[in-house]
Amino acid sequence: MRIGLIGAGRIGTFHAGTLREHPDVGELLVADADPARSRQVAAGHGGRAMPVEQVFAARPDALVIASATAAHAGLIARAAQAGVPAFCEKPIAVDLAGTIAALDAAEGRDAVLQIGFQRRFDPGYAAARQAVAAGRLGRLHTVRTVSSDPAPPPAAYVPLSGGLYRDCLIHDFDILRWVTGRAVTEVYAAGANVGADFFRAAGDADTAAVLLTLEGGVLATATATRYNAAGYDVRMELAGTDDQIAVGVAPRTPLTSVEPGAAPPRTPWSGFLDRFGSAYRAEMDTFLRVARGVEANPCEGRDALRALLVAEACEISRRERRPVPVAEVEAAARACHGGARKGVVA
Ligand SMILES: NC(=O)c1ccc[n+]([C@@H]2O[C@H](COP(=O)([O-])OP(=O)(O)OC[C@H]3O[C@@H](n4cnc5c(N)ncnc54)[C@H](O)[C@@H]3O)[C@@H](O)[C@H]2O)c1
Repeated sequence: MRIGLIGAGRIGTFHAGTLREHPDVGELLVADADPARSRQVAAGHGGRAMPVEQVFAARPDALVIASATAAHAGLIARAAQAGVPAFCEKPIAVDLAGTIAALDAAEGRDAVLQIGFQRRFDPGYAAARQAVAAGRLGRLHTVRTVSSDPAPPPAAYVPLSGGLYRDCLIHDFDILRWVTGRAVTEVYAAGANVGADFFRAAGDADTAAVLLTLEGGVLATATATRYNAAGYDVRMELAGTDDQIAVGVAPRTPLTSVEPGAAPPRTPWSGFLDRFGSAYRAEMDTFLRVARGVEANPCEGRDALRALLVAEACEISRRERRPVPVAEVEAAARACHGGARKGVVA
Protein backbone atom coordinates (compact mmCIF):
# COMPACT_ATOMS: atom_id res chain seq x y z
CA MET A 1 0.00 0.00 0.00
CA ARG A 2 1.06 3.58 -0.56
CA ILE A 3 0.53 5.46 2.71
CA GLY A 4 0.59 9.20 3.24
CA LEU A 5 1.67 10.43 6.68
CA ILE A 6 0.99 14.08 7.51
CA GLY A 7 2.65 15.31 10.69
CA ALA A 8 6.11 14.15 11.65
CA GLY A 9 6.25 15.15 15.30
CA ARG A 10 6.22 12.93 18.41
CA ILE A 11 3.37 10.59 17.48
CA GLY A 12 3.86 10.90 13.70
CA THR A 13 7.42 9.66 14.04
CA PHE A 14 6.21 6.64 16.00
CA HIS A 15 3.54 5.86 13.39
CA ALA A 16 6.22 6.17 10.67
CA GLY A 17 8.19 3.40 12.41
CA THR A 18 5.10 1.18 12.59
CA LEU A 19 4.25 1.79 8.93
CA ARG A 20 7.81 1.16 7.78
CA GLU A 21 7.81 -2.25 9.45
CA HIS A 22 4.34 -3.25 8.28
CA PRO A 23 4.39 -5.91 5.57
CA ASP A 24 1.48 -4.30 3.67
CA VAL A 25 3.18 -0.92 3.31
CA GLY A 26 5.24 -0.55 0.16
CA GLU A 27 5.61 3.21 0.06
CA LEU A 28 5.55 5.91 2.74
CA LEU A 29 5.03 9.57 1.79
CA VAL A 30 5.80 11.99 4.62
CA ALA A 31 4.73 15.64 4.88
CA ASP A 32 5.03 18.18 7.66
CA ALA A 33 4.59 21.93 7.89
CA ASP A 34 8.28 21.91 8.80
CA PRO A 35 10.04 20.37 5.76
CA ALA A 36 13.15 19.59 7.80
CA ARG A 37 11.07 17.31 10.03
CA SER A 38 9.47 15.48 7.14
CA ARG A 39 12.89 14.97 5.56
CA GLN A 40 14.31 13.66 8.82
CA VAL A 41 11.44 11.24 9.47
CA ALA A 42 11.33 10.08 5.85
CA ALA A 43 15.08 9.47 5.86
CA GLY A 44 14.88 7.56 9.14
CA HIS A 45 12.01 5.35 7.97
CA GLY A 46 12.61 4.67 4.29
CA GLY A 47 9.96 7.16 3.17
CA ARG A 48 9.83 10.07 0.72
CA ALA A 49 9.44 13.62 2.03
CA MET A 50 7.17 15.98 0.14
CA PRO A 51 4.72 18.85 0.69
CA VAL A 52 1.15 18.05 1.78
CA GLU A 53 -0.16 18.89 -1.72
CA GLN A 54 2.06 16.28 -3.26
CA VAL A 55 0.90 13.59 -0.83
CA PHE A 56 -2.66 14.10 -2.07
CA ALA A 57 -1.53 14.33 -5.69
CA ALA A 58 0.17 10.93 -5.32
CA ARG A 59 -3.25 9.38 -4.58
CA PRO A 60 -2.26 7.32 -1.55
CA ASP A 61 -4.25 4.21 -0.59
CA ALA A 62 -4.65 5.59 2.92
CA LEU A 63 -3.71 8.66 4.94
CA VAL A 64 -2.44 8.92 8.52
CA ILE A 65 -3.03 12.37 10.04
CA ALA A 66 -0.69 13.05 12.95
CA SER A 67 -0.18 16.78 12.55
CA ALA A 68 -0.92 19.35 15.25
CA THR A 69 -4.62 19.24 16.12
CA ALA A 70 -5.50 22.51 14.34
CA ALA A 71 -4.84 20.89 10.95
CA HIS A 72 -6.88 17.69 11.52
CA ALA A 73 -10.35 18.83 10.42
CA GLY A 74 -9.17 20.33 7.13
CA LEU A 75 -7.10 17.26 6.30
CA ILE A 76 -10.03 14.93 7.11
CA ALA A 77 -12.22 16.92 4.70
CA ARG A 78 -9.56 16.80 1.98
CA ALA A 79 -9.07 13.07 2.40
CA ALA A 80 -12.84 12.55 2.15
CA GLN A 81 -13.02 14.65 -1.01
CA ALA A 82 -10.16 12.67 -2.52
CA GLY A 83 -11.75 9.35 -1.52
CA VAL A 84 -8.75 8.40 0.63
CA PRO A 85 -9.43 6.42 3.84
CA ALA A 86 -8.04 8.38 6.79
CA PHE A 87 -6.76 7.67 10.27
CA CYS A 88 -6.67 10.79 12.44
CA GLU A 89 -5.15 11.33 15.84
CA LYS A 90 -7.43 12.59 18.59
CA PRO A 91 -8.96 15.13 18.89
CA ILE A 92 -10.50 15.93 15.48
CA ALA A 93 -10.61 19.58 16.53
CA VAL A 94 -10.60 21.50 19.78
CA ASP A 95 -14.08 22.85 19.12
CA LEU A 96 -17.45 21.31 18.33
CA ALA A 97 -17.98 23.32 15.13
CA GLY A 98 -14.70 22.09 13.62
CA THR A 99 -15.36 18.53 14.71
CA ILE A 100 -18.89 18.49 13.30
CA ALA A 101 -17.75 20.07 10.02
CA ALA A 102 -15.10 17.36 9.60
CA LEU A 103 -17.63 14.63 10.40
CA ASP A 104 -20.09 16.10 7.90
CA ALA A 105 -17.37 16.09 5.24
CA ALA A 106 -16.42 12.48 5.95
CA GLU A 107 -19.89 11.04 6.52
CA GLY A 108 -21.36 12.95 3.58
CA ARG A 109 -19.06 10.95 1.32
CA ASP A 110 -19.16 7.69 3.27
CA ALA A 111 -15.44 8.12 3.80
CA VAL A 112 -13.47 5.87 6.13
CA LEU A 113 -12.31 7.81 9.19
CA GLN A 114 -10.67 6.00 12.12
CA ILE A 115 -9.78 7.97 15.26
CA GLY A 116 -6.64 7.38 17.32
CA PHE A 117 -8.07 6.30 20.67
CA GLN A 118 -5.36 3.70 21.11
CA ARG A 119 -6.47 2.55 24.58
CA ARG A 120 -9.15 0.51 22.78
CA PHE A 121 -6.28 -1.63 21.44
CA ASP A 122 -4.64 -2.22 24.82
CA PRO A 123 -5.20 -5.79 26.11
CA GLY A 124 -5.99 -4.60 29.65
CA TYR A 125 -8.81 -2.29 28.58
CA ALA A 126 -10.14 -4.97 26.21
CA ALA A 127 -10.20 -7.49 29.08
CA ALA A 128 -12.02 -4.99 31.31
CA ARG A 129 -14.61 -4.40 28.62
CA GLN A 130 -15.20 -8.13 28.32
CA ALA A 131 -15.46 -8.53 32.09
CA VAL A 132 -18.11 -5.80 32.32
CA ALA A 133 -20.05 -7.15 29.34
CA ALA A 134 -19.97 -10.68 30.78
CA GLY A 135 -21.34 -9.40 34.10
CA ARG A 136 -18.27 -10.59 36.04
CA LEU A 137 -18.38 -7.57 38.35
CA GLY A 138 -22.05 -7.96 39.19
CA ARG A 139 -23.77 -4.60 39.11
CA LEU A 140 -21.14 -2.00 38.11
CA HIS A 141 -21.32 1.01 40.44
CA THR A 142 -17.97 2.86 40.50
CA VAL A 143 -15.18 3.57 38.02
CA ARG A 144 -11.93 5.48 38.63
CA THR A 145 -9.54 6.61 35.92
CA VAL A 146 -6.08 8.15 36.23
CA SER A 147 -4.03 9.84 33.47
CA SER A 148 -0.77 11.27 34.77
CA ASP A 149 2.03 12.49 32.52
CA PRO A 150 5.56 12.49 33.93
CA ALA A 151 6.30 15.98 32.59
CA PRO A 152 4.46 18.73 30.73
CA PRO A 153 4.53 18.91 26.91
CA PRO A 154 6.55 21.70 25.26
CA ALA A 155 5.17 25.17 26.13
CA ALA A 156 4.31 25.80 22.47
CA TYR A 157 2.05 22.69 22.41
CA VAL A 158 -0.25 23.90 25.20
CA PRO A 159 -2.14 26.84 23.62
CA LEU A 160 -2.91 24.72 20.54
CA SER A 161 -3.82 21.54 22.44
CA GLY A 162 -7.35 22.53 23.48
CA GLY A 163 -6.46 22.12 27.15
CA LEU A 164 -6.22 19.20 29.55
CA TYR A 165 -9.81 17.96 29.13
CA ARG A 166 -9.84 18.00 25.32
CA ASP A 167 -6.23 16.92 24.84
CA CYS A 168 -5.60 14.39 27.62
CA LEU A 169 -8.78 13.44 29.50
CA ILE A 170 -10.53 12.90 26.17
CA HIS A 171 -8.87 9.47 26.19
CA ASP A 172 -10.50 8.72 29.57
CA PHE A 173 -13.90 9.94 28.35
CA ASP A 174 -13.69 7.65 25.33
CA ILE A 175 -12.45 4.61 27.20
CA LEU A 176 -15.02 5.03 29.99
CA ARG A 177 -17.80 4.64 27.44
CA TRP A 178 -16.02 1.89 25.50
CA VAL A 179 -15.30 -0.25 28.57
CA THR A 180 -18.60 0.25 30.41
CA GLY A 181 -20.91 0.55 27.41
CA ARG A 182 -22.44 3.61 29.08
CA ALA A 183 -22.35 7.23 27.98
CA VAL A 184 -21.47 10.05 30.38
CA THR A 185 -24.59 12.05 31.23
CA GLU A 186 -23.24 14.70 33.64
CA VAL A 187 -19.88 16.08 34.83
CA TYR A 188 -18.58 18.24 37.61
CA ALA A 189 -15.01 19.33 36.91
CA ALA A 190 -12.30 21.20 38.76
CA GLY A 191 -8.87 22.25 37.56
CA ALA A 192 -5.68 23.40 39.24
CA ASN A 193 -2.33 24.91 38.31
CA VAL A 194 0.60 23.41 40.18
CA GLY A 195 3.35 23.95 37.61
CA ALA A 196 4.61 26.19 34.82
CA ASP A 197 2.94 29.53 34.16
CA PHE A 198 2.31 28.74 30.49
CA PHE A 199 -0.68 26.57 31.42
CA ARG A 200 -2.35 29.40 33.30
CA ALA A 201 -1.41 31.85 30.54
CA ALA A 202 -3.22 29.61 28.03
CA GLY A 203 -6.29 29.44 30.30
CA ASP A 204 -5.52 25.76 30.87
CA ALA A 205 -5.25 23.62 33.99
CA ASP A 206 -2.26 21.31 34.42
CA THR A 207 -4.12 19.14 36.92
CA ALA A 208 -7.80 18.18 36.95
CA ALA A 209 -10.40 16.08 38.71
CA VAL A 210 -13.82 15.24 37.29
CA LEU A 211 -16.83 13.58 38.87
CA LEU A 212 -18.91 11.89 36.17
CA THR A 213 -22.32 10.23 36.15
CA LEU A 214 -22.78 7.53 33.53
CA GLU A 215 -26.00 6.10 32.12
CA GLY A 216 -27.73 3.93 34.67
CA GLY A 217 -26.31 5.99 37.55
CA VAL A 218 -22.80 4.48 37.54
CA LEU A 219 -20.42 6.95 39.20
CA ALA A 220 -16.91 7.68 37.95
CA THR A 221 -13.98 9.90 38.77
CA ALA A 222 -11.25 10.90 36.35
CA THR A 223 -8.06 12.66 37.35
CA ALA A 224 -5.22 13.95 35.20
CA THR A 225 -2.00 15.83 35.72
CA ARG A 226 0.95 16.96 33.63
CA TYR A 227 3.20 16.67 36.71
CA ASN A 228 3.89 13.14 37.89
CA ALA A 229 7.65 12.68 38.12
CA ALA A 230 7.05 9.11 39.34
CA GLY A 231 6.27 8.17 35.73
CA TYR A 232 3.52 7.76 33.16
CA ASP A 233 0.48 6.46 35.01
CA VAL A 234 -2.67 5.53 33.10
CA ARG A 235 -5.06 3.33 35.04
CA MET A 236 -8.70 2.38 35.39
CA GLU A 237 -10.44 0.66 38.28
CA LEU A 238 -13.95 -0.77 37.97
CA ALA A 239 -15.96 -1.86 40.97
CA GLY A 240 -19.22 -3.77 41.04
CA THR A 241 -21.33 -5.59 43.58
CA ASP A 242 -19.47 -8.88 42.97
CA ASP A 243 -15.87 -7.97 42.16
CA GLN A 244 -13.45 -5.19 41.24
CA ILE A 245 -10.74 -5.09 38.59
CA ALA A 246 -7.97 -2.74 37.49
CA VAL A 247 -6.30 -1.87 34.19
CA GLY A 248 -2.75 -0.52 34.19
CA VAL A 249 -1.85 -1.88 37.63
CA ALA A 250 1.33 -3.88 37.02
CA PRO A 251 4.94 -4.00 38.23
CA ARG A 252 5.75 -0.96 36.05
CA THR A 253 2.91 1.20 37.44
CA PRO A 254 4.57 4.30 38.92
CA LEU A 255 2.78 4.04 42.24
CA THR A 256 4.67 3.21 45.42
CA SER A 257 2.89 1.35 48.17
CA VAL A 258 4.17 2.40 51.58
CA GLU A 259 2.89 -0.77 53.23
CA PRO A 260 5.67 -2.69 55.02
CA GLY A 261 7.43 -5.09 52.64
CA ALA A 262 5.69 -3.81 49.51
CA ALA A 263 7.84 -3.98 46.37
CA PRO A 264 8.69 -0.65 44.71
CA PRO A 265 7.64 -0.13 41.06
CA ARG A 266 9.99 -1.73 38.55
CA THR A 267 11.21 0.65 35.80
CA PRO A 268 8.08 2.84 35.80
CA TRP A 269 6.48 3.58 32.42
CA SER A 270 8.21 6.65 31.03
CA GLY A 271 5.59 7.98 28.62
CA PHE A 272 2.76 7.23 26.22
CA LEU A 273 4.98 5.54 23.65
CA ASP A 274 6.44 3.24 26.32
CA ARG A 275 3.08 2.36 27.89
CA PHE A 276 0.99 2.10 24.71
CA GLY A 277 3.56 1.19 22.02
CA SER A 278 1.93 -2.11 21.17
CA ALA A 279 -1.56 -0.53 21.27
CA TYR A 280 -0.48 2.12 18.73
CA ARG A 281 0.93 -0.63 16.50
CA ALA A 282 -2.27 -2.68 16.80
CA GLU A 283 -4.49 0.30 15.92
CA MET A 284 -2.37 1.08 12.85
CA ASP A 285 -2.45 -2.56 11.76
CA THR A 286 -6.24 -2.46 12.12
CA PHE A 287 -6.46 0.81 10.20
CA LEU A 288 -4.65 -0.68 7.21
CA ARG A 289 -7.23 -3.48 7.12
CA VAL A 290 -10.09 -0.99 7.58
CA ALA A 291 -8.65 1.07 4.71
CA ARG A 292 -8.57 -2.04 2.51
CA GLY A 293 -12.19 -2.71 3.40
CA VAL A 294 -11.55 -6.07 5.04
CA GLU A 295 -12.36 -5.03 8.62
CA ALA A 296 -15.04 -2.86 10.22
CA ASN A 297 -13.94 0.50 11.63
CA PRO A 298 -13.48 0.00 15.41
CA CYS A 299 -13.24 3.70 16.31
CA GLU A 300 -15.31 6.02 14.17
CA GLY A 301 -15.25 9.78 13.79
CA ARG A 302 -18.45 10.08 15.78
CA ASP A 303 -16.66 8.54 18.78
CA ALA A 304 -14.37 11.58 18.79
CA LEU A 305 -17.42 13.86 18.92
CA ARG A 306 -18.94 11.89 21.80
CA ALA A 307 -15.74 12.25 23.84
CA LEU A 308 -15.36 15.92 22.92
CA LEU A 309 -18.88 16.69 24.18
CA VAL A 310 -17.82 15.42 27.61
CA ALA A 311 -14.63 17.50 27.49
CA GLU A 312 -16.65 20.58 26.54
CA ALA A 313 -19.00 19.95 29.45
CA CYS A 314 -15.93 19.78 31.74
CA GLU A 315 -14.61 23.14 30.52
CA ILE A 316 -18.00 24.76 31.20
CA SER A 317 -18.20 23.07 34.60
CA ARG A 318 -14.70 24.24 35.59
CA ARG A 319 -15.42 27.79 34.46
CA GLU A 320 -18.90 28.10 35.95
CA ARG A 321 -18.34 25.84 38.97
CA ARG A 322 -21.47 23.77 38.45
CA PRO A 323 -22.53 20.28 37.35
CA VAL A 324 -23.10 20.26 33.58
CA PRO A 325 -25.33 17.75 31.78
CA VAL A 326 -23.71 16.54 28.55
CA ALA A 327 -27.13 16.94 26.89
CA GLU A 328 -26.80 20.70 27.48
CA VAL A 329 -23.63 20.80 25.37
CA GLU A 330 -25.17 18.55 22.77
CA ALA A 331 -28.20 20.83 22.49
CA ALA A 332 -25.94 23.85 22.03
CA ALA A 333 -23.97 21.99 19.36
CA ARG A 334 -27.17 21.06 17.57
CA ALA A 335 -28.33 24.69 17.64
CA CYS A 336 -25.00 25.84 16.16
CA HIS A 337 -25.45 23.26 13.47
CA GLY A 338 -28.64 24.95 12.32
CA GLY A 339 -30.88 22.54 14.17
CA ALA A 340 -31.00 20.46 11.02
CA ARG A 341 -30.10 17.23 12.71
CA LYS A 342 -32.17 15.35 15.25
CA GLY A 343 -29.18 14.19 17.26
CA VAL A 344 -25.71 15.59 16.73
CA VAL A 345 -24.41 12.48 18.40
CA ALA A 346 -26.97 10.02 17.03
N1 LIG B 1 -3.19 9.03 20.68
C1 LIG B 1 -2.30 9.52 21.51
O1 LIG B 1 -2.04 8.97 22.57
C2 LIG B 1 -1.56 10.77 21.14
C3 LIG B 1 -0.30 11.01 21.71
C4 LIG B 1 0.35 12.18 21.34
C5 LIG B 1 -0.23 13.07 20.45
N2 LIG B 1 -1.45 12.80 19.95
C6 LIG B 1 -2.10 13.75 19.02
O2 LIG B 1 -1.33 13.75 17.83
C7 LIG B 1 -1.24 15.08 17.30
C8 LIG B 1 0.24 15.48 17.20
O3 LIG B 1 0.78 15.48 18.49
P1 LIG B 1 2.37 15.44 18.69
O4 LIG B 1 2.57 15.23 20.14
O5 LIG B 1 3.02 14.51 17.73
O6 LIG B 1 2.73 16.96 18.32
P2 LIG B 1 4.09 17.54 17.75
O7 LIG B 1 4.02 18.99 18.04
O8 LIG B 1 5.25 16.74 18.23
O9 LIG B 1 3.99 17.29 16.17
C9 LIG B 1 3.04 17.90 15.37
C10 LIG B 1 3.64 18.06 13.97
O10 LIG B 1 2.63 18.55 13.10
C11 LIG B 1 3.25 19.48 12.21
N3 LIG B 1 2.21 20.33 11.65
C12 LIG B 1 1.54 21.35 12.25
N4 LIG B 1 0.63 21.86 11.40
C13 LIG B 1 0.72 21.14 10.25
C14 LIG B 1 0.05 21.20 9.01
N5 LIG B 1 -0.91 22.11 8.77
N6 LIG B 1 0.39 20.31 8.05
C15 LIG B 1 1.36 19.41 8.26
N7 LIG B 1 2.06 19.31 9.43
C16 LIG B 1 1.73 20.17 10.41
C17 LIG B 1 4.26 20.20 13.07
O11 LIG B 1 5.27 20.83 12.28
C18 LIG B 1 4.81 19.04 13.91
O12 LIG B 1 5.92 18.42 13.29
C19 LIG B 1 -2.06 15.96 18.24
O13 LIG B 1 -3.36 16.10 17.71
C20 LIG B 1 -2.14 15.16 19.54
O14 LIG B 1 -3.32 15.41 20.25
C21 LIG B 1 -2.12 11.66 20.26
